[in-house]
Amino acid sequence: MEEEKRNGLRVILFPLPLQGCINPMLQLANILHSRGFSITVIHTRFNAPKASSHPLFTFLQIQDGLSEAQIKDGPTSNVMSLLAQINLNAESPFRDCLNKVLLESKESSSEKVSCLIDDCGWLFTQTVSESLNLPRMVLCTFKATFFNAYPTLPLIRTKGYLPVSDSEAEDSVIEFPPLQKRDLSKVFGEFGEKLDPFLHVVVETTMRSSGIIYMSCEELEKDSLTLSNEIFKVPVFAIGPFHSYFSASSSSLFTQDETCIPWLDSQEDKSVIYVSLGSVVNITETEFLEIACGLSNSKQPFLWVVRPGLVLGAKWIELLSEGLLRSLEEKGKIVKWAPQQEVLAHRAIGGFLTHNGWNSTLESICEGVPMICLPGGWDQMLNSRFVSDVWNVGIHLEGRIDKKEIEKAVRMLMVESEGEKIRERMKVLKDEVERSVKQGGSSFLSIETLVNHILLL
Ligand code: UDX
Repeated sequence: MEEEKRNGLRVILFPLPLQGCINPMLQLANILHSRGFSITVIHTRFNAPKASSHPLFTFLQIQDGLSEAQIKDGPTSNVMSLLAQINLNAESPFRDCLNKVLLESKESSSEKVSCLIDDCGWLFTQTVSESLNLPRMVLCTFKATFFNAYPTLPLIRTKGYLPVSDSEAEDSVIEFPPLQKRDLSKVFGEFGEKLDPFLHVVVETTMRSSGIIYMSCEELEKDSLTLSNEIFKVPVFAIGPFHSYFSASSSSLFTQDETCIPWLDSQEDKSVIYVSLGSVVNITETEFLEIACGLSNSKQPFLWVVRPGLVLGAKWIELLSEGLLRSLEEKGKIVKWAPQQEVLAHRAIGGFLTHNGWNSTLESICEGVPMICLPGGWDQMLNSRFVSDVWNVGIHLEGRIDKKEIEKAVRMLMVESEGEKIRERMKVLKDEVERSVKQGGSSFLSIETLVNHILLL
């Protein structure tokens, strides 16, 4: 994107401290900066973004009430419970920080603050911004179809679908297609009814906001975007997969292992299966070993991201026996964190075994890489249904973390004719999404509308 002159307006951004939320927020910062806005990023100590990677933005850190040990564990800890704590602790530091920025801007004759944009997972920001007379916009890092279900999730939970019998497992959830009944328990996870007050606050504060920004496009979910506008009664902007404009690499919280790229260079075209379960999902020791054996038995080259902390109770890959490790290393490469966008764009990658976080799903579509779906919970359950059942660009493992199933899915996707058909459909989807971010496309035009909306706030 071309750099434009400064427009005298500053936008304040406040990401939720998760890799999957920091990446899109900083990509949005780049998009808005390229349109003339100055950027201030307020962030917690926990999972703080690297300010030095973004010299054009101002970074302000606030207290989040976590202990030194919790901060030190950083991205490897149980982030969900930490997020709940931060939502309780950070309101007052956030208010003080925002107030200070606003006071400074009032004293400045050259620049005004136009709005706050923060993650839909913050519970207190709408109230704080209203009390300071600052318009707030919501960045939703989920697919719009998933966010649209927030008001109905408590109803779905109490409707008696759970527990699901075998005969009903594949039935659609009528209120939430294309989700199937067997997906529901992992959508709600261990949280159950504890989610209801959270969902209520998110819906209610989003309805009081000045609009929702989605990393999505009409080509992927036109009807859901229209519905989102009807449900939340605020303007909706779907400006495309953000990484199509700016890479996520510079906002990585982990050190990316760059040796992946020369290793991929040595592999044949479309021969490698890339395996990564994102920054939050955890698996058990047994599941880890099943994946290891499945990959090894598939005889297909693989690049596997085993994030420290991925396997419950383990540091990294020490659970692999010497023999298994040797057989894995014959065909593949294991790293702690990869430059994912570059990896997916590499000619050697032919498939992606993924947890279907929304960023990963979009990144895979944009590079035309078909998927094997192994969702861990929450929105991933819905994203994976779209991949396997609606767009037909992937194979769903249906939660079977079993060496035989993994071997079968890898071989089906990478070497069998079924994989070729999936690849062709993926190419069509990729082209559609690509058109949307090009000049005149739906996402491209949405950025213009968003910029004008912010200018008028
Ligand atoms: C979280 C939620 O789990 C997800 O369901 C929601 O949609 C977004 O927030 P996360 O689990 O981290 O995200 O997954 P995802 O959305 O896929 O984001 C992961 C990001 O980390 C991607 O941008 C990906 O490119 C990056 N990544 C991942 C790397 O750069 N290297 C890796 O090795 C793995």
